Amino acid sequence: MADHQTPSTLESRLSEERVFEPPASFVSQANMTDASVYERFDRNYPAAFAEYAELLVWDREWDKVLDDSNPPFYRWFVGGRLNASVNCVDRHLESRGDRIAYHWVGEIGDERTLTYRELHRQVNEWAAMLRGLGVRENDVVTIHLPMVPELPIAMLACARIGAPHSVVFGGFSAHALSSRIDDAKSRFLVTIDGYYRRGQMLDHKKKGDEAIERADTDVEAVVVVTRNEEPAETLELVPGRDWLAKDLLEKHAGATVEPVSREASDILFLMYTSGTTGQPKGVQHSTGGYLAYATATSKWVLDIKPDDVYWCMADIGWITGHSYIVYGPLSLGTTSILFEGAPDWPSKDIVWKIAREKGVKLFHTSPTAIRMFMKWGPEPVEKQANDFRLMVTVGEPIQPRAWKWYYDHVGHGDAVIVDTWWQTETGGHVIVGLPALRNMRPGHAGRPLPGIDARIVDDEGNEVPQGSNKAGNLVLCRPWPGMLQTLYGADARFIEEYWARFSDTSSKDWKDWRYRTGDGAYQVHGDFRIMGRLDDVINVAGHRLGTMELESACQTVEEVAEAAVAVKRDEQKGHVPEVYAILKEGASRDGIEAKIVRAIEEEIGKFARPSRVHIVDDLPKTRSGKIMRRLLQNISNDEALGDTTTLRDPTVPVTIREQIAREPAKTREEVATEASDIELP
Ligand code: PRX
Repeated sequence: MADHQTPSTLESRLSEERVFEPPASFVSQANMTDASVYERFDRNYPAAFAEYAELLVWDREWDKVLDDSNPPFYRWFVGGRLNASVNCVDRHLESRGDRIAYHWVGEIGDERTLTYRELHRQVNEWAAMLRGLGVRENDVVTIHLPMVPELPIAMLACARIGAPHSVVFGGFSAHALSSRIDDAKSRFLVTIDGYYRRGQMLDHKKKGDEAIERADTDVEAVVVVTRNEEPAETLELVPGRDWLAKDLLEKHAGATVEPVSREASDILFLMYTSGTTGQPKGVQHSTGGYLAYATATSKWVLDIKPDDVYWCMADIGWITGHSYIVYGPLSLGTTSILFEGAPDWPSKDIVWKIAREKGVKLFHTSPTAIRMFMKWGPEPVEKQANDFRLMVTVGEPIQPRAWKWYYDHVGHGDAVIVDTWWQTETGGHVIVGLPALRNMRPGHAGRPLPGIDARIVDDEGNEVPQGSNKAGNLVLCRPWPGMLQTLYGADARFIEEYWARFSDTSSKDWKDWRYRTGDGAYQVHGDFRIMGRLDDVINVAGHRLGTMELESACQTVEEVAEAAVAVKRDEQKGHVPEVYAILKEGASRDGIEAKIVRAIEEEIGKFARPSRVHIVDDLPKTRSGKIMRRLLQNISNDEALGDTTTLRDPTVPVTIREQIAREPAKTREEVATEASDIELP
């Protein structure tokens, strides 16, 4: 049998057998070393989650840990009141006000250092400024910023006045921004004149202007941050609507704003993410449950201590940055690195150089970045001697080979690696071995955290027996504090997307409700191996995209009659979308591929760019007219065609495959631009 194994299955087989123990030096100092914690949370569910809430400071203590009277609308730490900015900033002032909260490293070599005291001053001034512009409690403030210190400052200022923030990743286009502004009916926008990418100043404000123009919502006030001392020359302000942050902040210099005491279940923020329809979903997170969860997982999983220097390379515009650059690390009072730049500019050792100079002990990144470092070879990382205690991977399944490279070359074989599985919706880690209590199995996210009940079910909802090695749908069977509360303004869609499939939706007992993650998984020796999305969601370089969103973007091109997106495996980005499109009768083919790529950039953003566009005469469809993307996937990935018997015309995929074989291979230059275009999640 072994002779017939392909190298990849052999590799994963080996990884399943091989485990790595955490070094004794790690275990002896870890934040969580009590092996009974799993059993304690199981026995004492949900009350044990009070241990998470106890890590926070509360204005009023909660009466009840979990109100489960109306599933799936759970409420955590009911009756408790708190403010997130107080937890992240004010509470550290007395004992560690001079401790650095953020070391910000700009792309052109400029740096800014913010102590907790300085952060406190700026958050207060920002809060006063936002109030001054008319922002009231529960108004949603949209923040469209790249990695500048004003991004966490603006988030915390919103939290201080009880205004939920909706951060839209800076790489999103004007159109994407506009649909998020409308969905949240957000009347306030925070943006920036521009920012640097590989030494070039990019105009960012114009995306905000265009978004506002397209939006139905009346945006009343726009706060414009300036990247440098002086505003960019390209900057234009709309009188009465746009305000330079630095001008307004001058007026509020030294202001203090009394933090608004929020109920635990009041909204802290919205984060839009892709689902299976074209419309993005506004994942709504609570103040108490979310913050307690982000804080506790930062402490137990990331092993953050107040005196650590920690660097998560994610962008704050995604959930990883929210939970593990802003809320978790600040709540624990530690020092973090914020990095504006690209990981290969001006040199391929920039990341390791910054880490060494700042004394980083905890390092957090994604498999896409690890594959990129691996491609550059060990020299850049080995040139800068770093000594990491713990290293994190998140966002995609990691190949055992990439895991081993990270372990050997970045961690020198003596740093713990934690592979953390979670989602925008879960608020924080869900499946991950607690680092001092579990051995590491490369490529496996490990076991569910204490109190979490993760299971694998078949398509009918029957549980796949443990130890059977069979893959299925990953579901979560108990509520947990970090979970989303709902989709903003769309309770029915919330139930439909996450619960209906595997729950008894008429029941009032939480035990009858199971949260559908959308991921496939199987278990090996009790450890979960995540296989990736089972629905129409693609994970491109750790960024989540919906095939429907991409297809609707293609449809905006006038000549396109129909388009379908297939997911192609990619050595660098994990997956990339490929477009197959049919043109309208008589439409010109001239430059059509470029037009489609541009449409995707305009509707979503550059990071969603397809690797190729194929113009075809027909798409594989069933007799009822449904496009069979699975067959396109087979073609894109050079696999044998799956079952074609349900097709109206079984010759279609064969013809497409022949046509593609005749298409010219990509030029080397094209491929090179793509590699340097990677935006890290
Ligand atoms: O498919 C899983 C994958 O990323 C999805 C969630 O994407 P998003 O909401 O953007 O959050 C990313 C950061 C948490 C999941 O449904 N995913 C995330 N972490 C892992 C992963 N797949 C495998 N292993 C992981 N560690």
